[in-house]
Amino acid sequence: MMKISAIVAVSENNVIGKNGHLPWHLSQDLKRFKAITSGHHILLGRKNYEDIGRPLPNRVNLVLTRDVSFSAPGCTVCHSLKEAFKVAEDAGESELFIIGGAQIYASAMPFVKKLYLTRVQAETDGEVLMPQIGGGWKLISEEKVPKTEKDDFPCVFRVLERE
Ligand SMILES: NC(=O)c1ccc[n+]([C@@H]2O[C@H](COP(=O)([O-])OP(=O)(O)OC[C@H]3O[C@@H](n4cnc5c(N)ncnc54)[C@H](OP(=O)(O)O)[C@@H]3O)[C@@H](O)[C@H]2O)c1
Repeated sequence: MMKISAIVAVSENNVIGKNGHLPWHLSQDLKRFKAITSGHHILLGRKNYEDIGRPLPNRVNLVLTRDVSFSAPGCTVCHSLKEAFKVAEDAGESELFIIGGAQIYASAMPFVKKLYLTRVQAETDGEVLMPQIGGGWKLISEEKVPKTEKDDFPCVFRVLERE
């Protein structure tokens, strides 16, 4: 049975995006994101895809849109969550990663059993907020990550699972 997970970086005031982009540069978090998601199917919203601007390598990129004429080179375009889940499941995926943005997290969170959360240790500007993740989470691991010259802020990496 395929596990559905989500991965997100969230500031102390719940911000995940600003003007269609990430509000920060966090080198260590990008490395973590790459290590966790590589080799898997990832599911992203059309706006997040437009921001990234290309398929992320070594992953099957499932882009969610309601636009039936939308195409994204090197990606698989899906028109519903159910369709995206089926594409990944039929390919034998063990863990599908929901990688945002906010609309996609909001729709998929009821199905998410594992959450890879980066808590960015700062209050940041931005109009895109992380939706409610619901209750019943158990903390599996936690790692404090001091800021380096390649990071805008210090972070805490957490892994949570539904109880
Ligand atoms: N901090 C983080 O970890 C993180 C992670 C990812 C993204 N972000 C940020 O989040 C922001 C983008 O988030 P967003 O909420 O604006 O956009 P989004 O979730 O990336 O994309 C929204 C689009 O997805 C499509 N969509 C949504 N629900 C759908 C459904 N049920 N069925 C079919 N298509 C559906 C629609 O595309 P159409 O309009 O084409 O129909 C919708 O306009 C950016 O600022 C980005 O940098 C942050």
